[in-house]
Amino acid sequence: MTDGQSVKPAARDRHAGLYWPDPLVLAVRMKNTDATFLKNFSLLVAGLAAFTAVLITVAWNANARFYEGTGDTSGGGIAQEREAGRKAEADARIAPTAVVFHGDAGRQALIAAAEAAKAAAVQQVAYGGTLDGAVIYDALCGACHKTGAGGAPAATAEAWAPRIAQGLDTLVKHAIEGFQGQAGLMPARGGNPALTDEQVRATVEYMVAKYSK
Ligand code: HEC
Repeated sequence: MTDGQSVKPAARDRHAGLYWPDPLVLAVRMKNTDATFLKNFSLLVAGLAAFTAVLITVAWNANARFYEGTGDTSGGGIAQEREAGRKAEADARIAPTAVVFHGDAGRQALIAAAEAAKAAAVQQVAYGGTLDGAVIYDALCGACHKTGAGGAPAATAEAWAPRIAQGLDTLVKHAIEGFQGQAGLMPARGGNPALTDEQVRATVEYMVAKYSK
């Protein structure tokens, strides 16, 4: 035999009649192995893809159920949530750092702000809650009443005589509620809403005693 070029002579010698596969046969066999591998691998990939699809479906349904009854019919609760988050962020970014009151709406806002400030002031304690008329007079009432500013009865017995004649209760009432007279405007509680009735009364008593001579 002289065809020993395509087979290993030693192998042929050892196993008479049996030939090692020549390179072409070997190549075909390897291709068959690849095909099997590819088939199995494709099956695996397809299986994983199917499993992924199942997971997506389950997650989608869970999400939709989570937003059930919230009026969100889009089925995309997460998308809506993200949108809301974006909106809140944008709102925070463009929120005004200062407020300008303008027109009728502005006037309303201004009044509301003033009332809120007044309500806040009422919560506070004026002058440490003192019932010493002299302290409150010096700190607040004196600003007008020492000099007679704006028509306030000044710090003299002459100025106070006709006032005192009205009686203490009337003076206290006018000091608490405020009083618009011929001379000018006496602001309620001297303009400090945190003053209690007792504090105003004590101050009026102090003033009346001081200018009674
Ligand atoms: C912003 C200025 C101002 C301040 C502050 C002020 N008053 Fe007067 N007060 C007046 C004026 C003006 C009058 C006179 C009103 C009129 O009779 O026309 C007056 C009048 C009074 C009268 C007489 C009221 C009457 O019936 O005749 C009393 C009492 C009085 N003030 C008490 C006080 C007391 C108490 C305080 C402090 C808690 C105070 N005032 C703070 C401006 C002020």
